[in-house]
Amino acid sequence: MDKVIDFINVNRERYLDELKALLAIPSISALPQHAADVKRCAEWCADEMRRIGLQNVRLVSTPGNPVVYGEWMGAPGAPTILFYGHYDVQPVDPLDLWESPPFEATIRDGEIFARGAADDKGQVFMHFKAVEAHLKQNGRLPVNIKFILEGEEEVGSENLDGFVRAHKQELAADVVVISDSGMFDRGIPSICYGLRGLVYFQIDLRGSSTDLHSGSFGGAVANPAFVLAQMIAQMKDRGGRVKIPGFYADVVPLQETEREEWKKLPFNEKKYKKDFGIPKLFGESDYTTLERTWARPTLEVNGLLSGFTGEGAKTVLPAVAMAKISMRLVPNQDPNAIAELFEAYVKKLAPKTVTLKTTRMHGGKPWMTSFDNPFVQAAGRAIEKGFGKRPVFTREGGSIPVVSTFQEELGLPSVLFGVGLPDENAHAPNEKLDVSNFHNGIIASAYLYDEMAHIAR
Ligand code: BES
Ligand code: MN
Ligand code: MN
Repeated sequence: MDKVIDFINVNRERYLDELKALLAIPSISALPQHAADVKRCAEWCADEMRRIGLQNVRLVSTPGNPVVYGEWMGAPGAPTILFYGHYDVQPVDPLDLWESPPFEATIRDGEIFARGAADDKGQVFMHFKAVEAHLKQNGRLPVNIKFILEGEEEVGSENLDGFVRAHKQELAADVVVISDSGMFDRGIPSICYGLRGLVYFQIDLRGSSTDLHSGSFGGAVANPAFVLAQMIAQMKDRGGRVKIPGFYADVVPLQETEREEWKKLPFNEKKYKKDFGIPKLFGESDYTTLERTWARPTLEVNGLLSGFTGEGAKTVLPAVAMAKISMRLVPNQDPNAIAELFEAYVKKLAPKTVTLKTTRMHGGKPWMTSFDNPFVQAAGRAIEKGFGKRPVFTREGGSIPVVSTFQEELGLPSVLFGVGLPDENAHAPNEKLDVSNFHNGIIASAYLYDEMAHIAR
C-alpha cells in the first residue's frame, strides 16, 4: 500500500486541476436547458474512467439521463464492490449569492468552491483517483469493482430502480460503497448507517378563474393563499408533530442504546444555531436535534407561491396558490402508504371554496443498516488510516433513494463513507469541499479497497 499512498501524495495538485474540469460542467439535471451538459458530463466521466484504467466503460441509456458504467474485474475470488455516485448537480440559484462563479471552481481557505464540489462530484472523484493509484502502481486492484454513476439523483432517481432491476446479473456484487454523505463535523470522519426517505407533493388551489380586485371581491370570495396557509397550519402541531392521521403508525421508535451513543457525539447546539443563523430551534418535543433530523420523520414546506410578490403594493385577490410540501420518512414508513395518507388528509382539509389539485413528485424509501457488518468494519479501519481518526457512526436526515433498492433488489448492504461537512452548502450558494478531506478521502478510499479485499465472501 505504501506505493499507492505515495502516488496519491505526489499527485495531490494534479487531482485538484482534474476535479476543476469536472466541476466546470453544469450538469444540472433539474433544468431541461442543461440536458446537453448532463450528457457531456456523463461522457467526461466515462472518458476519465477509461483513463484511470477501468474496463467495459460505457453509457447505459435510460428513459432519462444515462448511467455511466465501468468495471475492473481482475481479482477472482476477492469481493466485488458496487460503487454508486451521481454526476448530476442541483441548480445554482440564487446566482448573485455566489462569491465565485458556480462552474469555475475556485480554491479559497483550503476549500474548493463549486456546485457539485461536495455533492457529489468531488466525492466520486476521490474514488476515481484511488482506483487510478492502485492500477498505476500495482497494475491491479485488491478487489473487483463496478462503478455506476447516475445523472438523475437530484431529481429523484426516477429511472434508477428500473436500471437496477434490468441489470441484476451485471450488478452482482458483495457490497455497495457510496460517498455522497457527510462527516459528523470537521475532524470527525463518519460512517452513515441510516438515511431518511422522502415523499414530495405539489398542492395547487384555485379560488376563481382569474385574479380579482380585492376591494370589489374581498370578503366574498375565498382567498386561495389564505386557505392554503390554513391548510398548512393544520399539518403540524405546535410541538412539531405531524398531524396526518396514521403518519407515525410504522415509525420504528428510537432505541435507547442509539440515543445513548448519539449523546456522546460532540454536537454543539449553540454553534449549530450560530453557524446557520437560527434564532431558536424548533422540532418535535422530547427529541434532541440529532434525533429529530436522523431518526424522526417530518413534514416541511419547501416553497409557497401566490398573489402579488413584487415591489410595492397591489390590491388583488389571487386566483391560485401553490405549495411544495415534502415529508422525510424513517424506517419503516412506506412512501406509498404515506402519500395516500397525505392526499386523503389534504382532501379533508380543503374547503369547498377552492378546487384542489395534488401532484405527487419523486420520493424514496428510508434505509438503515446494522454496523456490525464486516464491510462496515473494514471501512472503519480504512477511514482511520486515511484520516488518522476512528470514524463515528451517524445517521443522516437526507435521502439517497437507490440505497434501499440495492438492499431489496440486489440483497446488498451499503457502506456510506462521506467526506462532506455540514457547512459545505450542498444545494445552496457557495457549495464547497474541504481540500484536505478530499485528499484524505482518496487515501481512505485506496485503503478501503485493500481492507475489503480480505473479507471472506
Ligand atoms: N447527497 C444527498 C443526500 C444526503 C444529504 C446524504 C444529506 C446525506 C446528508 C443527495 O444528493 C440528495 O440531495 N438527495 C435528495 C434526494 C431527493 C432529490 C430524492 C435529498 O435528500 O433531498
Ligand atoms: Mn448527493
Ligand atoms: Mn444532493
